[in-house]
Amino acid sequence: MSRERAIAVIDSGVGGLTVAKEVMRQLPKERIVYVGDNARCPYGSKSPEEIRTYSFQMIDFVMNTPLKALVIACNTATAVVLEEARAYLPLPVIGVIDPGARAAVKVTKSGHIGVIGTETTIRTKAYERALLRVQPDLTVSGMACPAFVPLVENHMADSDEARRVVKETLAPLVGQELDTLILGCTHYPLLAPIIQDVMGDQVTLISSAEETARELSLQIAAIEEQPRIRPSTGVPQHLFVTSGETNRFRSIAEEWLDCQVHVEQHTMEKSFQS
Ligand code: DGL
Repeated sequence: MSRERAIAVIDSGVGGLTVAKEVMRQLPKERIVYVGDNARCPYGSKSPEEIRTYSFQMIDFVMNTPLKALVIACNTATAVVLEEARAYLPLPVIGVIDPGARAAVKVTKSGHIGVIGTETTIRTKAYERALLRVQPDLTVSGMACPAFVPLVENHMADSDEARRVVKETLAPLVGQELDTLILGCTHYPLLAPIIQDVMGDQVTLISSAEETARELSLQIAAIEEQPRIRPSTGVPQHLFVTSGETNRFRSIAEEWLDCQVHVEQHTMEKSFQS
């Protein structure tokens, strides 16, 4: 196993793969340790206390590996624990909400931005705050889509059922004046073709992945100026860990990342008690 420090990418399930894919593209030499807490997914309908406990269990798990940075590739966990995780860890911690908000503000012309996400992400208004920090005169329409994550986790993102659920759920947003829709849950890019079809071509879909990986690149460049941290070399051996079923995780990951992946199963429960 490589002794170079890895980049940890964590999510409640397979959603963070959308961010991991972009990290692999922008930082091809970096080794990724991915953790998906599929056994306890979805996080989005759980209490903030549960989300906090589960997120820190994943964080404590990945901290067993020497790391360069941690990406919380889950909007729900970002909304609940980002600041606390930054205070807790001695390394750069990157969330997905500020990057997603920045990407959306770059694109909107009408100034009306929609945000879809889990119940927790929408309830916390984390995107609304992040967007208005960048541009205070925006109109923001948020909507929770709790039925989307189970479709993705069950490997049904390209099914008639997914088309029916997405069409029915997004109906209240269709016809609103928004020109930009933030996919405020990292699972949703796997449903992007269907979401685009339902919303129409006049709406630009924004995933946080690209902007998050860009922010990570900047942070990595900054820490590699420290003499202790060596730039990565060679072909990285990524590791994917799930608390759930390895076969389903592997199928979704290999399809999305378009490469073979090495998957291990671990429980997350033991490591963190608040
Ligand atoms: N992928 C996660 C997010 O970005 C959470 C999905 C869930 O567990 O509810 O919000």
